[in-house]
Amino acid sequence: MSSAPLRRVAALYDVHGNLPALEAALADVEAADVDLLVLGGDLALGPMPCEVMDRVLALGDRVRALRGNCDRLMADAYDGCPLPPLPAAVQASITWSARQLDRRQRDYLAELPQTLKLEVESVGAIRDGMTALELGTGWVHWEALFTRLFYDVRFYLLDVWDNRQFAGLQQYAGHLKSRLYEDVDRPRDQLDRASRLLEKILDCSNFDELYSLLGFTYILEPRGRLDAIPDHSVDLVISSDVLEHIPHAGLEQLMLDLKRVLRPGGVCAAQIVEEDHLRIYDRSVHPKNYLRYSEFTWKALFENRVQYINRLQHSDYVKLFGGGFEIIDEQIVVSSESLPFEVSKAFNGYSEEDLKAGVTRIAARAPL
Ligand SMILES: C[S@@+](CC[C@H](N)C(=O)[O-])C[C@H]1O[C@@H](n2cnc3c(N)ncnc32)[C@H](O)[C@@H]1O
Repeated sequence: MSSAPLRRVAALYDVHGNLPALEAALADVEAADVDLLVLGGDLALGPMPCEVMDRVLALGDRVRALRGNCDRLMADAYDGCPLPPLPAAVQASITWSARQLDRRQRDYLAELPQTLKLEVESVGAIRDGMTALELGTGWVHWEALFTRLFYDVRFYLLDVWDNRQFAGLQQYAGHLKSRLYEDVDRPRDQLDRASRLLEKILDCSNFDELYSLLGFTYILEPRGRLDAIPDHSVDLVISSDVLEHIPHAGLEQLMLDLKRVLRPGGVCAAQIVEEDHLRIYDRSVHPKNYLRYSEFTWKALFENRVQYINRLQHSDYVKLFGGGFEIIDEQIVVSSESLPFEVSKAFNGYSEEDLKAGVTRIAARAPL
């Protein structure tokens, strides 16, 4: 078996000597194309102990097993050790099952570990060779740039208008280079690689040189549509502080577009700021200030095209992603414990958790 982190692991528990049930579960495991099967204890005690043990042993290093209490009791019974005070029927069952075993099967059970530590890739983990999309990449392509320092990922960068700032990007890159070893918690060899790449980034004199160095493709698409990206070609979509700027209908369209461009099992990870953006400019403004306004007042007095925000709440995003994706992680950062004003009726029906949420982080996976 390779020592690379595992991608998919199946875990079956309490087989209890039931060969037909094990066969049925193994058929599902086979179809799921896993890297490893973990059998979580209490393997053989049951009606078909030898048959189950033969089947498990034949799986070789595709399986790792843990020792359950029944496995220990069976090894003890095989060795003729006294069993603990258990009901007579249970004692009889352990003794009968243990007598069916041969020496190799007994040794396998006796030597099983009680714990197992596996290195498993986290869901959506970034890998060299991936294709990724940064939605709403903005001025300095920060998320893509940072990711690219550590992984050989091909990035599409998409935005609805050209707000890029090359001097700003160089400034960020220079600052990161000067703080890299103190501020970024990564193995030394990865930091060395990132530092060398930052040097090359600092040598670039415009975006075209930068894109050719890093393998980035910049897409300007005023409607925010993903038509330039082929079907099922993207492994990962990231966006930071973008979705709150897209109207609800646009987000519904985006969900369809994401479903089209993501590979089966591909992941979309978004950070969404639900705070009133006026607060960016005036810290005395309450983080959820906009909740006081009706739809009419908001549209008439505050909504604007320079910094549009959709006033959607955490649960709206969960619903949007939940429609076509499997949500694999969702986090709320609460921005204020109290709402010291009357909330408009426009937000009736939202939970308190929703209304206090300041930032949502959501990761969702496209169907397999
Ligand atoms: C607050 S900025 C965030 C920029 C960048 N992600 C960052 O963290 O620095 C929001 C960005 O989203 C972009 N944007 C707005 N609507 C969009 C849409 N429908 N599709 C893609 N990007 C959009 C804006 O042009 C802007 O660059």
